[in-house]
Order: sequence, then C-alpha cells, then structure tokens
Amino acid sequence: MISVTCVAPVNIALIKYWGKRHEDLILPVNDSISMTLSTDELCAKTTVTASETFERNRMWLNGEEVPFEEGSRLQRCLKEVHRLAVAKGSQKVSPSWKLHIASVNNFPTAAGLASSAAGYACLVYSLSRLYDIPLNEELTTVARQGSGSACRSLYGGFVQWHRGALDDGSDSVAKQIAPSAHWPDMHVLILVVNDARKKTASTKGMQQSVKTSQLIKHRVDQVVPDRINQLRGAIASHDFQTFAEITMKDSNQFHAVALDTYPPCVYMNDVSHRIVSFVHEYNERMGSYHAAYTFDAGPNACLYVLAENVPHLLSAVQRVFPNDLADGGTYLRGLPIPKVENTEHLSSKIDSLDVHAKNAFRYIIHTKVGEGPRELGADESLLLNGLPLEH
Ligand code: DP6
Repeated sequence: MISVTCVAPVNIALIKYWGKRHEDLILPVNDSISMTLSTDELCAKTTVTASETFERNRMWLNGEEVPFEEGSRLQRCLKEVHRLAVAKGSQKVSPSWKLHIASVNNFPTAAGLASSAAGYACLVYSLSRLYDIPLNEELTTVARQGSGSACRSLYGGFVQWHRGALDDGSDSVAKQIAPSAHWPDMHVLILVVNDARKKTASTKGMQQSVKTSQLIKHRVDQVVPDRINQLRGAIASHDFQTFAEITMKDSNQFHAVALDTYPPCVYMNDVSHRIVSFVHEYNERMGSYHAAYTFDAGPNACLYVLAENVPHLLSAVQRVFPNDLADGGTYLRGLPIPKVENTEHLSSKIDSLDVHAKNAFRYIIHTKVGEGPRELGADESLLLNGLPLEH
C-alpha cells in the first residue's frame, strides 16, 4: 500500500475562460489568464492510496462517496495519468492497483469559489506524485480534462491557459507567466455574498453561450487577444492601473456574454451589482484604481488590491456594506488585516459614502497570490485535517 497527500490552490481568472470548441477534451474557444491564490486560506486536499488489495476504485468528496463512472471526467483523468505513467516507464506503483481517493476543500463548495479547479488540480497532481510523473505542460492537459480552469491551478502566481489549435488538444496547455514572488503584494478580498439560489453550472452555461450568443464571437475574435497581451504587459511591469481596468472590463464582458446567452445565464445578483458601483465610486474618490472586481459564475466578488491598500479598502467595504456579524470572530477570515496609523486624510474620502446594503455578505476572506500544488509530509497531512470547514 502506498499513499500520497497533496494540497492545490484555487485560481481566479482575470481574463475569463468561457466556451469550448471540444466538449470532451475540454478545449476552450479563447486563452485565459488567472492568478493563483494562497493555499493557506483556500485549498483542496487530496489523499490517494493505492493497494493491491483494493477491489475497485473509489472516491470520497468532502466525506461523501461519489460514483467512479466509466466515461466520467474523473475516470478520464485517471486514464490519462496511467497513459503518462506507462509512457514514462514509471515503476513506482503498478497501474493495475486500485485507488481510494479522498478529497476535501477547506472552504464551502456552495460558496462557488472555483472548487472544481482546485479539486481536479489536486487530484491530478496527487496522481502525478503517486506515479512519479513530472509536473509539466503535458500534465496540465490532463487537469484540463477534469475541469478546464483546473489546468491553471497546477502553477502558482500568474498563469495563462493557451487555447491551442490542434484537434487532439496537445497544445492547449497552461504556462506560468510569473511566479507569486514577482508581485507578492497582490492581495484579494473575497466577498462571499449571501445567496441561496442555484446557479446554472459553468459547463452547461458556456455550452449555451457558444450555441446562442453572438457577442461571444466578437469577444473571442476581437477582444480577448489584445487583452491577453495588455494584461501580460501589466503583470510584467507591476502596472496595477492597467491590470485593474482589464480585469474589471473582462469580468463585465463575460457577464454580458452570459446575459446574451439564450435563455440568459444570470450569475450576478443585486448585491454583486452594488459591489461594482461601490468599486467604481471608491476608485474615483481615490483618484486612481485602488481595487478591481471580478465575478465568476456566481454572485461572489473577488476584489484585487495591493497589500498597502487592504485596510482602507476594507474600511470602505464595511462602511458601505455594514454587517451585524462584523464583530464576530468568523466574519473576517484569512490573513490578518494590519492596523494603519494616520489615515485621517483617507477616512475623509469614504466618510460620506452611502450604505448600499446591510448584511449582504456571509463573510469576507482576505488572501493573496500564492504557490502551486505541493505534496505534504506525513506530519503536515495530519495537521491539515484540522483545516477549518464551513461554520
Ligand atoms: C467563469 O472550468 O468550471 O470560472 O471546464 O466545464 O469544468 P468546465 O468549466 P469551469 O469554468 C470556469 C468558468 C469561469 C471562468 C474561469 O475560471 O476562467
């Protein structure tokens, strides 16, 4: 019997992946760029155990057994890893041994925080450690077949998923643009919006967009290629102004495509739209971009902000979106917020902001750019069992 445990990060797209040109191979219609978030705050953790005595492959997700069906994305990832193991002549574990796979997220799946990206990246990375396969572009093509956005979670920092042109998808790979150390003060506040509505899953939503939206064609041909180049330039030169503008515009265009889908996919809610107007108002008062929002296929906001501006942005958020839970221990999660002195000149800029909504968020997570997946040592993997789960 042999066992490995790994953690893998969540990534949040700055230029969104939306639409496939091949459903099974998960080949996208456009390139995308994301930032990987630190695993200290949000991560998936997977333990894979191989044994010659196991009778069949089994998998548990957050403690509940999930089917290991023929033809499923899970099965496809496993087959692809086996193919690579055989091709590389890996001797560590026989591919004939069956597996037991247990995966947990340290954040609620229901919060809609890119859990499939972290989950599949963690599965594929753990399998690669089990069979002794190197992390390279080819491995990203395997994670991609679990969930498209998962290929970007195999690297830390800033990552581009290249759409590729080949029919077999071998050139549809993720590559790191810059490691997290390149821009370590890039932080994120995740505003987890109170919302119980069930969203159209991304897979289904993007299928409908490709079929019915005319705007998506314009986006793919005329908009994304330039944005990719501009954003790469902004990251290379630590240009937060360009970074913020492209990120917000791309989030808006993705949701415009979602609405142009027929029937429409509505992911943002009233609170999300209030966050958008707040960020624009806030940036205007500050005289330049101090925060940038982005929304995935759900109502939660990710606000990108440089470390030095986090305390002030958070004060403004709490002024405009006051919460009865704000004094409780679990409302503000993640990295501590540093106290800052002499902020009177800054306070004056937000004192007159109006309240937009009360008790609009379940909680706020403060995190930052982080590293890619890693294998845990025996002690560490036990410790991480104590990861905080949803309250
Ligand atoms: C809006 O990767 O979840 O988060 O490939 O069908 O599993 P599948 O979709 P998924 O879609 C993510 C969509 C997005 C944008 C992004 O992460 O780029």
